[in-house]
Amino acid sequence: MSKTAIIYWSGTGNTEAMAIAIEKGLKSGGEETALLAADKATPGVAGEYGKLALGCPSMGAEELEDSVFEPFFASVEHELAGKKIALFGSYGWGDGQWMRDWQERAKKAGADAFEEGLIMQEAPDEAACEAYGKRFAAY
Ligand SMILES: Cc1cc2nc3c(=O)[nH]c(=O)nc-3n(C[C@H](O)[C@H](O)[C@H](O)COP(=O)(O)O)c2cc1C
Repeated sequence: MSKTAIIYWSGTGNTEAMAIAIEKGLKSGGEETALLAADKATPGVAGEYGKLALGCPSMGAEELEDSVFEPFFASVEHELAGKKIALFGSYGWGDGQWMRDWQERAKKAGADAFEEGLIMQEAPDEAACEAYGKRFAAY
């Protein structure tokens, strides 16, 4: 069983709630985990874990949050080739375009991106997040 890092940015707590529930699901699937806020993650983090679950809400205009998460993601992008990653995040009024763009970007970097990512409008359905984590544990 590999070790999975869940690394996220959250302004108002919705994506953080997703991260916590996804970690619970990963653990119930037998995975060892580490939960990290993106501002605490080091650029070498991708190499330290077998799998990554990465969370960021839709910000700007359907973009990743630009002061912490975007620089973090850019710093690990070159290490994603062949890596199993699961993207997730909360959104408000859009239709999930930021996630489709983000999945595309991750795949271009060579990542093995799980499902279509997981998006939740505002406060998440924690049971659905937990189930996503459990499926990712088995991926
Ligand atoms: C500055 C800002 C920009 C946002 N831009 C978008 C957007 O482009 N599309 C969207 O669906 N939601 C947008 N939202 C809504 C957030 O994605 C939503 O409130 C989300 O639940 C926040 O997640 P968090 O609690 O993890 O910070 C924006 C919110 C803020 C504060």
